[in-house]
Amino acid sequence: MKNLAFFGGGNISQSIIKGLINSGYSPKNIFFVDRNDNNQKVLKKLGIKKLADAKNKIDLYILAVKPKDATSAFQTILNEDTKPKIVSLVAGLKTKRYKSFGKNIKIMRAMPNTSSKFGLGITAIYNSSFKQKDLSRVIKLFEKVGIVITLKEEKKIDTFTGMIGSGPAYFFYLLKSYEKKLLELCDGNKEKVNEIIVNLMKGVGASVENDKDLDKLISAVASKKGTTEAGLKSFKENKLNKVFEKGLKAAIKRSGEISNEY
Ligand SMILES: NC(=O)c1ccc[n+]([C@@H]2O[C@H](COP(=O)([O-])OP(=O)(O)OC[C@H]3O[C@@H](n4cnc5c(N)ncnc54)[C@H](OP(=O)(O)O)[C@@H]3O)[C@@H](O)[C@H]2O)c1
Repeated sequence: MKNLAFFGGGNISQSIIKGLINSGYSPKNIFFVDRNDNNQKVLKKLGIKKLADAKNKIDLYILAVKPKDATSAFQTILNEDTKPKIVSLVAGLKTKRYKSFGKNIKIMRAMPNTSSKFGLGITAIYNSSFKQKDLSRVIKLFEKVGIVITLKEEKKIDTFTGMIGSGPAYFFYLLKSYEKKLLELCDGNKEKVNEIIVNLMKGVGASVENDKDLDKLISAVASKKGTTEAGLKSFKENKLNKVFEKGLKAAIKRSGEISNEY
């Protein structure tokens, strides 16, 4: 898979493209289609060209538009290439929707997240029509920007989308409570607050990497009758875990619903 074309060059495409370039992938082999001026500027700055300027055959198309735009963008790819191989990153739209355009269409689904930008992506893959050789190539491509898991059932993509595709935003949301309090603590010094949040998160990541047992990690911080225990007690009394799990459930449900809307 040498020449890639991103159809839709917004948030997720830019994350993957940046991750690929950081991993050593040549921007010369990456092309894009995007109608948004701002996105075009960002992509051009990264040294990638418009699909219209591609001189060689595209080996893989990556469909990365919002669900409402997906079928028309998909049709455009089919109009321009007779035998395209397409990976759809679109949440909700099922393989059978794409297959309704023609049963020989080579389409598979991938659900990445924006941490791909730092080589820390988590991408789920569901394949029903790529040959093993091409599937392996797609897996290798996404492994350049993080880890890849292969799903055997398509409906699990919805669970993955609600938890991992959307996942970074949940943590950003929780961190807003930290930011608010820390800004008071640091007399409004946003840079310092950012540094603290980054180290807090890096420390959490490193701890989990080092010692995989989450309960053990909690008890290493929470001493009897200490501050952590008081905080955790309040979280438990207010059923924070239930609230969080409810949020995940709502996102997973929404991912399932989208396919019925388009
Ligand atoms: N963002 C994430 O974290 C994430 C993670 C996993 C999967 N996804 C999936 O990836 C897809 C894209 O998400 P995103 O957040 O990257 O969206 P986005 O930032 O809105 O990017 C999509 C881009 O595609 C352009 N576009 C749409 N239809 C087009 C067409 N026919 N011709 C040319 N350009 C077109 C849009 O232009 P306009 O702005 O003019 O519409 C926009 O610039 C979604 O389906 C989402 O489910 C996203």
